[in-house]
Amino acid sequence: MTSFPTLHDCDPGSDDAITLLALLGRRDVQLLGVSTTHGNAPLSATTHNARALLTLAGRDEVPVYAGALGPLVREPVYAPQIHGVGGLGGVPLPEPARPVKAEHAALALVRQLCAQPGELTLLATGPLTNLALAERLRPGVLKEARQIIVMGGSLESGAPKLGNTTPRAEFNAYADPHAFDVVLKAGANLWLLGLNLTRQVQVTRARARQLATVGTAAAQTCAALLDDYLDRIGKLGQSVGALHDPCTAALMLAPELFGWEAARVAILTDSGEGLGETVRADGEPNVQLVTQADENGIYALIAQALEQLP
Ligand code: RIB
Ligand code: CA
Repeated sequence: MTSFPTLHDCDPGSDDAITLLALLGRRDVQLLGVSTTHGNAPLSATTHNARALLTLAGRDEVPVYAGALGPLVREPVYAPQIHGVGGLGGVPLPEPARPVKAEHAALALVRQLCAQPGELTLLATGPLTNLALAERLRPGVLKEARQIIVMGGSLESGAPKLGNTTPRAEFNAYADPHAFDVVLKAGANLWLLGLNLTRQVQVTRARARQLATVGTAAAQTCAALLDDYLDRIGKLGQSVGALHDPCTAALMLAPELFGWEAARVAILTDSGEGLGETVRADGEPNVQLVTQADENGIYALIAQALEQLP
């Protein structure tokens, strides 16, 4: 059986949580570590949430490394309107059974990537501050990853509304555009899933019910997270959401569910209304830009994984 030695850098966050639980449900995924960052909620909350999710899954042996308190340059931004103040919408989770590791996430990423060059897949579903710090600490370290799969940015061309945080910027890119720039320029085997991709995988009440019928506590938690997300975006006038972060895990596990093209992508880092906007650029490709997704296949993969959990 193929195995996927994996690192997950995240800011749980409802969709990060579903991603993490899906990874934990897969026997072919060897989750070597979870690293947390500021993002949807402050670092203390995202780190607590990651630990609690591992306890929910009965997987407290997986180490959690806390990372960046804030972005490289700009001021922190959070998303309580989408994920709630605590990051998981107040959906009940067990108290974490294990403490966070003392090692900083950036140092853990450097150590783990250098220990197994060319073997690890790094899923990044939050702002990229930890990845950028790792690259600054050890230039070239991101190239040691077998594959880096990032949820971030948006390359819809011509659409009136590119972003989801500003009219032109997606949250993970906007929350730390300078880190995103470092990662784009690191020369790694980088796969980018922007809003142009994730919006093809819709979140609806029916999809929440689909996960709820799986029946495990983990699946019920994911359904509750989707319902909470839909409640919150409903207050903002949106009736359908997007399943952003779990697409990264699905791409690693079932690339046949996706289409992609080589592209060169850059990010605007000057302050002003374009801050955090990702754009196509001239020159050699620096990413595989993921452009198509099979919504049914992705939900089936997630449901099957959640069925394996308590
Ligand atoms: O724009 C969507 C991204 O921002 C997702 O990763 C979500 O969790 C938030 O972090
Ligand atoms: Ca996220």
